[in-house]
Amino acid sequence: PAPGWTADTDVVVIGSGIAGLVAALRCRPHGRVLLVTKALLDAGSTRWAQGGIAAALAPDDSPADHLADTLTAGVGICAEDAVRVLVTEGPGAVRDLIGLGAAFDRSDAGGIALTREGGHHRPRIAHAGGDATGAEISRALLAELKDSGVEVIEHALVLDLLKDAAGRAAGITLHVMGEGQPGGVGAVRARAVVLATGGLGQVYSATTNPEVSTGDGVALALRAGAAVADLEFVQFHPTVLWLGDGARGQQPLISEAVRGEGAHLVDAAGVRFMLGRHELAELAPRDVVAKAITNRMRETGASHMLLDGRHLGAATWERRFPTILAACRHHGIDPVTEPIPVVPAAHYASGGVRTDLYGRTSVPGLYACGEVACTGVHGANRLASNSLLEGLVFAGRIAAALADDLADVPGPSETVEGRGRLLDPARRADVQRIMTAGAGVLRDAEGLDAAARELSALAAGEPAGAPGVEAWEVTNLHTVASAIVAAARRREETRGSHWRLDFPERSDGEWRGHLVTRLEGDAL
Ligand code: SIN
Repeated sequence: PAPGWTADTDVVVIGSGIAGLVAALRCRPHGRVLLVTKALLDAGSTRWAQGGIAAALAPDDSPADHLADTLTAGVGICAEDAVRVLVTEGPGAVRDLIGLGAAFDRSDAGGIALTREGGHHRPRIAHAGGDATGAEISRALLAELKDSGVEVIEHALVLDLLKDAAGRAAGITLHVMGEGQPGGVGAVRARAVVLATGGLGQVYSATTNPEVSTGDGVALALRAGAAVADLEFVQFHPTVLWLGDGARGQQPLISEAVRGEGAHLVDAAGVRFMLGRHELAELAPRDVVAKAITNRMRETGASHMLLDGRHLGAATWERRFPTILAACRHHGIDPVTEPIPVVPAAHYASGGVRTDLYGRTSVPGLYACGEVACTGVHGANRLASNSLLEGLVFAGRIAAALADDLADVPGPSETVEGRGRLLDPARRADVQRIMTAGAGVLRDAEGLDAAARELSALAAGEPAGAPGVEAWEVTNLHTVASAIVAAARRREETRGSHWRLDFPERSDGEWRGHLVTRLEGDAL
């Protein structure tokens, strides 16, 4: 539909997790900033982040050690220059967050308390409120936003990128719901567009991601002709609370930090099956643990495995993991007295919209940071608690880049329309079912081919009756799902979180590189 209203700004930031908030706050000195977010300001993934934020803060730790663990977890295809930026700038960026008022948990000696998670060879994870790190970071950044002069529109779903005649990003179209704001479809004309829309976990039936994580930024970027990379590397978190077979939607996360504090993974017979599989046992990188759990479930015909943290004791559970304790008890499980039933679930997109070290995408004027971006730091498998850090560090670098980049861009320019054909909202569950069956934690050619066929059939089916948020969301989910399947079909090897049953080995000769996806016409 044609925009019913138009607004002008200098920088429009889309998304209000750690990446979007930091980008908006740090861009503010360079001009007017408008932050748009799909639901409420704190509805995205950041506030759900439990374990923490990784940074070499301990006296016996170093960026070089953090770099080594990140590269190992990424299985040979991390962009080392981007990782170096992440681990070198990370400690300062976390201290800046503390300066803004984010209250991290302290050790008895008064320093920042640090724990371990999968793939980290030393305690490196700063946490807040025990297991409510994202909520505290979100609180601190939102407090800072209040008097910052950043304008905010909530309940605004971004639709498409606007470009000027030269092909430069010149704004966005968006659909705004709710009272007290300009409603319906509008256009924001801007000199720079920053995507910080977060993840795409809702492509799958069961995920740790909230309802809003529908891949809107990746879909927009594909429609805008931007390069998207590493989409096949969807990370499955090893441990969400098992709520019965066929559980759907957002699942309660059981943080890796629970294993970091000493909980063990066991099967129904009480066997600690991670021992002997990896030198770090339960604290092996996430893909290794997710695969081991999935394999053990297949070997034993079990619907779930168990996470035994009884020996941590009630006091530790209450102090370190109040959120998880409450969630488990809400579902009738008491981790103090019984093991927690756990399964893997879709968690994080290691790939996304390809950027340089300053968040610039392949479309001039379009930037990306946080989960929607692919800076290359995660390679084939993100190291635990590197995601909040990536959002923090690279959002700040976009702001630094814009100080120069905006100098060449005049005011908001005339725009041309985006495009898109909308799917029927009723197809959302079909997309999730197809992806879970064919492109989930275990993949092979047969399943991926079937997923591709079924997704094509959905696209050829009845279009949406009327445009609306649900129709736009399912269209985005479908676009992103099709791109994941296309990349997963092409990569004929097993690497990191991309696990091909028909190509079980890693193939460094052929596949130590990145798959870049673009949309040309309607074809990937
Ligand atoms: C967790 O707390 O286990 C999640 C941390 C992460 O995804 O990095």
